[in-house]
Amino acid sequence: MGAGNEKEARVNSAKLTLNIAGVEKTIDFPVIVGSENEVAIDIRDLRAKTGVIALDPSFGNTGSCTSAITYIDGDAGILRYRGIPIEQLGEHSSFVETSYLLINGRLPNKFELGEYSRKLTMHSLIHEDMKHFFDGYPSTAHPMAILSAMVCSLSSFYPEALDATNTELFDITATRLLSKVRTIAAFSYKKSIGQPVMYPRNDLSYCANLLQMMFATPCEPHEPDEEVVKIVNLLLILHADHEQNCSTSTVRVVGSGQANLFASVAAGICALWGPRHGGANQEVIGMLAKIQANGGDVNKFLSLVKDKSSTVKLMGFGHRVYKNFDPRALLIKKAADSALRKLGKPDPLLDVAKRLEEAALKDSYFIDRKLYPNVDFYSGIIYRALGFPTNMFTVLFALGRLPGWIAQWKEMNEDPTTRIARPRQIYTGNVAQDYVPIDSRV
Ligand code: ACO
Repeated sequence: MGAGNEKEARVNSAKLTLNIAGVEKTIDFPVIVGSENEVAIDIRDLRAKTGVIALDPSFGNTGSCTSAITYIDGDAGILRYRGIPIEQLGEHSSFVETSYLLINGRLPNKFELGEYSRKLTMHSLIHEDMKHFFDGYPSTAHPMAILSAMVCSLSSFYPEALDATNTELFDITATRLLSKVRTIAAFSYKKSIGQPVMYPRNDLSYCANLLQMMFATPCEPHEPDEEVVKIVNLLLILHADHEQNCSTSTVRVVGSGQANLFASVAAGICALWGPRHGGANQEVIGMLAKIQANGGDVNKFLSLVKDKSSTVKLMGFGHRVYKNFDPRALLIKKAADSALRKLGKPDPLLDVAKRLEEAALKDSYFIDRKLYPNVDFYSGIIYRALGFPTNMFTVLFALGRLPGWIAQWKEMNEDPTTRIARPRQIYTGNVAQDYVPIDSRV
């Protein structure tokens, strides 16, 4: 299968007795057991054997694939990339090394890591013609709108990558994407504040280069602080993959039609943008600022959240899979504390966030529903302290998630059993009726 110590899924079988419209049938279905003993009934043949389909809106109970990339135990608060706990990667790895791990299935040796970093450095420029695209956007454009469009536009500069089935081109396409998205992200920020773009510098590491392109100007160099570079590495690592979430599933669905990597990832970026998903990190800051502006009463805000007649959510809380602490949130909270201390930039919103978390975790509404802080609850506070504007937070999430999207697209593309993703539906509209000419309509 892959290069690491992953195992093929074991296959058993289950007999299900179904009684549909009074007709009883007992049918054998394969049972798939994963390497961490997660169990699934493989219902691929359900319709062929019974004539009925499974209905699972929002896919809460549906496994869309088997995957050897990321493991989550939502009840135990465990997250591992290729088997390695996120806590260890956060402490010892770099974003570049973690990207290699996710995409290639194993940690690189020294030589491989050096080569990989060098390649990422050598592909950081975007075509000069692309630079003009930025001029076409209003200065008020959200950088996620620019990012998604620019990533899709990359496919027009590398037409050879349009053939998603050409696996020989995968490495160079993935490298270009991973390197250039950082440049595009920084350029879109510069556009939004009316400053000239800063070109990448080959003497800097991946994350230091991002900071330089964001915060230097032609009149003022920016030498990124080592501590800050470390924090950015940590944040990107913590966002690097999260198995079949909304944006990753989007990448796989789009890719299953054999759309190229740039187009598939552009679709993933759009999916990430929503406030229920990656856009939540921006919303959290808005929420905390509002609570603070209204006197800082967190309990009053929670009452509003709990009021079923309101649509207000506690942003940065809750998760489809985690019914316990999101391990990323724990690491980010710790990092936020130490980053703010090191940078000497106390943020009153951190205090509001901590009080809000404490109050929510004691409240039966959140306890009963197993709602805990997710990755987005504290990340924005660090990004603010580092000087990133709020509307760049989701762009940073996208940058972090890139290796995961790439790895998942690759895994899907290499799997010979992949078919185009094409769910079915239960139709609830009108039964057949005749077309009525316009003059005869009431
Ligand atoms: N605030 C208040 N109530 C919540 C919240 C929240 N943040 N999250 C879930 N609930 C409630 C729901 O209203 C529901 O209550 P009910 O049983 O009385 O109807 C119950 O908890 C179960 O929630 P669901 O909506 O069924 O959970 P689902 O898995 O569909 O949604 C989601 C998960 C979208 C993350 C949700 O928790 C949410 O909207 N959170 C806030 C936005 C957010 O932080 N998103 C980032 C998620 S992490 C990521 O994508 C990067």
